Amino acid sequence: MPSSTQIIRPARNLSGSLTLPGDKSISHRYAMLAGLAEGTTHLSNFSTGADPHSTLSCMAALGAIVEKQPDGMIAVTGAAGHFNRPEHPLDCGNSGSTMRMLAGLIAPHPHTFVLTGDPSLSARTMERIRKPLAQMGAEIHLTGGDGAIGGHAPITVVGRPLTAIDFTTPIPSAQVKTAVLFAGLQARGATTLSEAIRTRDHSEHALRAFGATLTRSGLDREGTGKLSIEGGQTLHAIDATVPGDLSSAAFFLAASLLFPESNLVLDALGMNPTRAALLDVISGLGGKIRMLNVEEHHGELVGTIQVNNQPNADPNARRLTSPFEISGALAAQLIDEIPVLAAIAPYTRSGMRIRDARELRIKESDRIDLVARNLRAMGADLTEHEDGLDIPGNQQLHGTQIDSGDDHRIAMAFSIAALRATGDTEIHGAEAAAISFPEFFTHLNRLAVR
Ligand code: S3P
Repeated sequence: MPSSTQIIRPARNLSGSLTLPGDKSISHRYAMLAGLAEGTTHLSNFSTGADPHSTLSCMAALGAIVEKQPDGMIAVTGAAGHFNRPEHPLDCGNSGSTMRMLAGLIAPHPHTFVLTGDPSLSARTMERIRKPLAQMGAEIHLTGGDGAIGGHAPITVVGRPLTAIDFTTPIPSAQVKTAVLFAGLQARGATTLSEAIRTRDHSEHALRAFGATLTRSGLDREGTGKLSIEGGQTLHAIDATVPGDLSSAAFFLAASLLFPESNLVLDALGMNPTRAALLDVISGLGGKIRMLNVEEHHGELVGTIQVNNQPNADPNARRLTSPFEISGALAAQLIDEIPVLAAIAPYTRSGMRIRDARELRIKESDRIDLVARNLRAMGADLTEHEDGLDIPGNQQLHGTQIDSGDDHRIAMAFSIAALRATGDTEIHGAEAAAISFPEFFTHLNRLAVR
């Protein structure tokens, strides 16, 4: 893909309404389960990002019939429990979710599958899914494995019958949890799974929506407990509208904190509680959020919210002296939103302390390093740590050249920081935004008041 540059001019305000394209995480899961199910699933507001479309292409290569209709509706006729042997390697593009979750879905099918990805995905560890799937009896060969990142793509999955396991996730990862649940759905016996830190639960809701039974027992204070899924269950097609992507909304929610008079209305937005910690953080940083309505569809909460920035409305806010802290379970829950929160942190009154976010170093790029380098290029003072950043508040940044590192979330995060900078900012590698949010720059230009 040719590298493109976007020039972001400073804005005076941010105002208007926005309907987000469908959630990336939910789109992946609906596409995969629809591809395995019996019958034809109809999905409206499917993600427009390149990543979930990589998943759709993989499902087509596995024997599902995928039709993209002119109104954006996606119809997927599933392989009714029996995937074909693909004629070519399954190309997962830039998408870690596709490769990791698909590995669990295909591992019990009696074929040999090769999964490939772009250079960024091929540098990411796949050891985290190989281990539990191997315990279930899967045969998975990774490339390399001696270096720091562990085995990676291309990976070969030699399909075999699987047996249920009792698994505790060693790292908070919804992708690993999902790989095990998707394999467990097709294994012999009941697979149980525990998480120390609860990760996004879209797979649990999606499995139930497609007709599977999952049980949760021994709920603890975190609401975690043990999940259990019986193997040998059949899935049935659904009709669904994918909720708007909260992680894409995060860019505009963060932007709304930069201007005293901002006013944003976000429609049909996914507000799953395992993702919604972001809304508390936006409130904690001075945003006033009003829920205008909330509904539930296939277990997912969806609603309309209005966000205003009222930095002086709360008398306590002025006295806030310690930095806003993102660490522990919160860091895991906000892992995709930390880049944009860090990018606006210098403009906040309190600044930000980010810890326990080491996973950011092994996402589509080393996001801690790229955030630190780009913030410094904009004139910010900060300290980088192995697992986070300390970013003092009350800083004014200036426009400069930004390197996206071909990472969608970095390209968008610094486009937001640029709105309050002095002078213009050039975002190099801006086309990466299309991985999750191709319409981002169009919406930004429409909502930014100049
Ligand atoms: C995702 C889980 C997260 C997240 C990724 C999407 C998912 O990754 O960063 O963008 O859809 O399950 P991990 O599960 O590796 O934390």
